[in-house]
Amino acid sequence: MASADSPRKLNLAVLISGGGSNLQSILDACKEKGYPAQVRVVISNTSDAYGLIRAQEAGVPAITISHKDFDSRTEFENALNNELADYDIDLICLAGFMRILTPDFITKWSRKIINTHPSLLPKFGGEGMYGMRVHQAVLEAGETESGSTIHYVIPEVDKGEIILQKRVNIHSHDTPETLAKRVLASEHIAYPEAIKQIALKIGF
Ligand code: GRF
Repeated sequence: MASADSPRKLNLAVLISGGGSNLQSILDACKEKGYPAQVRVVISNTSDAYGLIRAQEAGVPAITISHKDFDSRTEFENALNNELADYDIDLICLAGFMRILTPDFITKWSRKIINTHPSLLPKFGGEGMYGMRVHQAVLEAGETESGSTIHYVIPEVDKGEIILQKRVNIHSHDTPETLAKRVLASEHIAYPEAIKQIALKIGF
């Protein structure tokens, strides 16, 4: 409970589908003294996501809601909403969450869902632009820099307002894999920073 010694923090839900290295960067930031947010719950749509173990190790409830158990996106999202309702969530952080959310869900959580994308949006975003495809496209386009973008989620994929970006240089010998590694490291800095920025902006 909040008191003078423990001010109320921004309550986060982190949604994942995989390794959860971005989740880890958020969990680590939350351990820092004075960081204005805390992870209340981690939800994965796949039961074997390593991020679930990261959550357990941090003492955070780790829940699987498999989209395969539901007949429609709406039913899956109703289950998500039921779970989120238990944790007084202020902000949903998508961190490698590989499901497209419906406009209904996004509207319900308007300005309360953020995402990380591994390029300098608006470049190399949109439906189908994920994972190694992004880095492949960046290299094929002959870009000299790439990076990460933390943005609000709106129904149009990767089109929401940008909160912050981190740039990385592209090296002449880069492959999609080497570039991916550098961009991921930049996301690990960007995501906790963006959450802090939002928390401070709304007065936490
Ligand atoms: C990140 O590069 C993110 O931008 C993309 O998927 C990756 C997730 O990595 N959507 P992790 O699961 O946080 O390690």
